[in-house]
Amino acid sequence: MLVELAVAVCTVHGVRPKTKALWEKQNLHPGDRWRLFSAVSSVVTAERVLYPGSYVDVALSFVFPTVTYVDLDARAKAFFSDVAGVNEIIATHTGAPRDPQFRFIHGDYTADLGIAGDYELLVSLYAGFVSEHCTRNLQVGGMLLANPSHGDVAMASIDPRYELAGVVTSVSGNYRVRTEGLDGYLIPKAPVDLSPEMLHERGRGVAYTKSPYAYLFRRVQ
Ligand SMILES: C[S@@+](CC[C@H](N)C(=O)[O-])C[C@H]1O[C@@H](n2cnc3c(N)ncnc32)[C@H](O)[C@@H]1O
Repeated sequence: MLVELAVAVCTVHGVRPKTKALWEKQNLHPGDRWRLFSAVSSVVTAERVLYPGSYVDVALSFVFPTVTYVDLDARAKAFFSDVAGVNEIIATHTGAPRDPQFRFIHGDYTADLGIAGDYELLVSLYAGFVSEHCTRNLQVGGMLLANPSHGDVAMASIDPRYELAGVVTSVSGNYRVRTEGLDGYLIPKAPVDLSPEMLHERGRGVAYTKSPYAYLFRRVQ
């Protein structure tokens, strides 16, 4: 009797409607982030990935086996608390890791989250100066994936702990990572005296002569 009940509960669980709605809104351009993270995985091998300011962007788990998501938003907390539903979303993606592990921290990434310092990939997409606060969690030799929107690329470009290791270009939603011929990147269109203080004040980055979708930086110290 008990066994039957357990089976019935499993069968009807599915993805909670709220989880499904949040994911559908996040995945408005279907598969876009999946393609981005897949392209990144062609050059970055990482067992442990940290995604501060993730909101509900679970596409990282379609590609990488162990991901820690961090966000302040209550909707992200509700989304990731539907563990079975999130696992189901991940499982629907061909090529997803067989036994994906994810963890969600409902917190402020500028504070000490009490997490390890051995992550191999740190992701910073539209979520502020993630690199400034979370590089402490990235191992030396690990990679930072950042997009320029909120100024984190400019911040990483003047951080001595990082060197440019690649650029991610996007043509009609297809992403490609380039790791050679990087000299022509990160060149400001107009002379600018970059500093952390100046970037905090602006709250955004600078315009470069070339504008790939995102950048990869290697932590070198
Ligand atoms: C514009 S959304 C981007 C979400 C996701 N990275 C993406 O690209 O789809 C920015 C997210 O960063 C989160 N965020 C901003 N500052 C944060 C902080 N200090 N700690 C944790 N989350 C933060 C916000 O709550 C929000 O969910």
